[in-house]
Amino acid sequence: MAEIKEFTQEYIDNNSPEKDKLFQQFLDSQEPYTSIFKNNPWLLPPDFKKPLESGDHFWNTTVGRKHPYWKNKNLPKPTKEITQIRKDFQKWGYALIEEGMSKKQCKVFIDRLLEQAEGEKLANVNSLTPSGQYVHTLINKGKVFRQCIEQDIEAVQAGALIENFLNETLGKGWICHSFLANGAEKGYYPQVLHIDQSPLSPWITEEAPALVNTLYIPQDVNEENGGTLIIPGSHKNIIKAGSNGNVGKLNPAINLEANAGTIMLFDGRLLHGTGVNKTSKIRFVAAMSNVKSWMRSQENWIISVDPEIIKNASPKLLHRMGMQAVTYGGTIEGFGIGAAGKVDESRGSIKYFREAFDEGEYIRVGELSSTSPKSVLKKNYTLRQAMKKAKSK
Ligand SMILES: [Fe+2]
Repeated sequence: MAEIKEFTQEYIDNNSPEKDKLFQQFLDSQEPYTSIFKNNPWLLPPDFKKPLESGDHFWNTTVGRKHPYWKNKNLPKPTKEITQIRKDFQKWGYALIEEGMSKKQCKVFIDRLLEQAEGEKLANVNSLTPSGQYVHTLINKGKVFRQCIEQDIEAVQAGALIENFLNETLGKGWICHSFLANGAEKGYYPQVLHIDQSPLSPWITEEAPALVNTLYIPQDVNEENGGTLIIPGSHKNIIKAGSNGNVGKLNPAINLEANAGTIMLFDGRLLHGTGVNKTSKIRFVAAMSNVKSWMRSQENWIISVDPEIIKNASPKLLHRMGMQAVTYGGTIEGFGIGAAGKVDESRGSIKYFREAFDEGEYIRVGELSSTSPKSVLKKNYTLRQAMKKAKSK
């Protein structure tokens, strides 16, 4: 019990009327979604207990070229031209890379993915969402996926283009936020339309996105098999509303139409979600989202990546998985503060800590004092070893 009256819970409660609390209205606003749903009731989520309704709902739509509103609007078409990709991305919030993966690369990708999905069902570790089966943490589930994270042209022929585009839009040093495959299956529900940089909400980054997604499309997608739902140009509605504004009436949603091998780049502020699959075959796309260098990742690869993969990973892959600390992200016991988050930067490499952890030999610095016994002061602290290692490089 606090002895000073002003520090007691009762006093604090008595002096905290809702109207006095700082920033509450903004922080609790749940924007941009509050205004999105209020001004566009057709975007409300389905009732997950009932079969999907027909009528004016975001999931009842078609591809752009067949949509009465969108068919003459010159929406992005698959292209290999970076100049066109920039224009489409800026205007519509997404761009389509034509043949980002070759036919052969696509086959390797989808074969591995379908096999993995089956295996996970048999092992009873399959992830079932309201839209269908997801396959998470692809980094552990095949060489092809690790190569995609590295934008290795052996697995993704447009790798250099993607990497340049991400350097440009996120700033160098960006890391992967997650890489997971979204399945859409018959009888399931659409994903509620959302923006991928929602964790930042209710702040909206107005000048540039804080997250850019790369959607790998290893099989043809369309209005029949659950092509991703998008509202072209909706990032502009979100930007215009800004951090404390109202999103007004939005244009209708469409299903993405793309051939296998296409890679969609999209802005973290674009409204999108998994579509409804009306066919009997599962439809997979795989989302690799990427974020600023200091942000936390969606998939905690620092813990989940297989030790063997870490052992054999290239410096670039280690960086992508967030194992290069930067002053404001991923530091361990102070190690990494001052690092710039570069590939193979010894003073930010936290691989040494993870290896010690895997060996059961991670010794953390705990309580120390001038009277600590020598045996405690001389412990083989992992931090000391890591600092030594970094210096010797
Ligand atoms: Fe998403």
